[in-house]
Amino acid sequence: MMKNLVFLGAPGAGKGTQAKRISEKYGIPHISTGDILRANIKEGTELGKLAKSYIDKGLLVPDEVIVKVMDARLKEADCKNGYLLDGFPRTIEQAKALDKITNVTLAINIAVDSDAVVARIAGRRMCVCGESYHVSTHPSDVCDKCGAKLYQRDDDKEETVKARLEVYEKQTAPLIEYYSAKGVLKDVDGMKDVAEVTDEIIKVIDGNR
Ligand code: AP5
Repeated sequence: MMKNLVFLGAPGAGKGTQAKRISEKYGIPHISTGDILRANIKEGTELGKLAKSYIDKGLLVPDEVIVKVMDARLKEADCKNGYLLDGFPRTIEQAKALDKITNVTLAINIAVDSDAVVARIAGRRMCVCGESYHVSTHPSDVCDKCGAKLYQRDDDKEETVKARLEVYEKQTAPLIEYYSAKGVLKDVDGMKDVAEVTDEIIKVIDGNR
């Protein structure tokens, strides 16, 4: 079956961590709207300037802007045999727009406790190469892969995280019901260790759960 996958989950649920592993295993592109927007911010593009004004407040970038970006991205050749979307769709409007572009075969909801996500986000450290770590499991402030100094994402500061979690509850959590009604939703316990969560996701994708 075609692997047109969507990862749902609160900020800090582990979507990006799992998406890297799963996209490598199945040879499908990992498409993260957050990564696309951050790359645009770094390059100083018009999209980046616009996105920054929302991201810094913990708010969502307007639907029409994101849908245009994703419409173009999903038409690229590497999506021909499937894809893994991380951070998109994030509103019912985005999900409806996605339905017009392509058909989602499986939406995986990575479920976590809200207390845990705050601790995960507070301890997350990023590298310019795209790797992500947590201070509790990786106390060094240098990347294992490329040796660069790790940094904290601007929107991982406490006050912005609170806004992001509120936005998630109000605008993104309703997608769980949206995909459930379509019969393509599966829940995975995101409170387990990273490797255990990966195993669960693989079982779901392979139809063994
Ligand atoms: P985005 O980059 O998508 O951020 P997010 O959804 O808030 O998700 P995160 O990246 O914070 O968390 P994650 O679930 O990927 O967790 P991770 O694997 O890193 O979006 C940022 C912003 O861009 C938005 O706020 C919005 O403004 C804008 N945006 C993006 N998409 C948009 C859209 N579609 N529409 C409109 N606006 C959009 O893990 C977190 C930490 O926990 C890490 O330190 C990790 O090491 C650790 N960890 C992971 N798994 C485990 C585990 N199982 N056990 C213990 N620790 C773990």
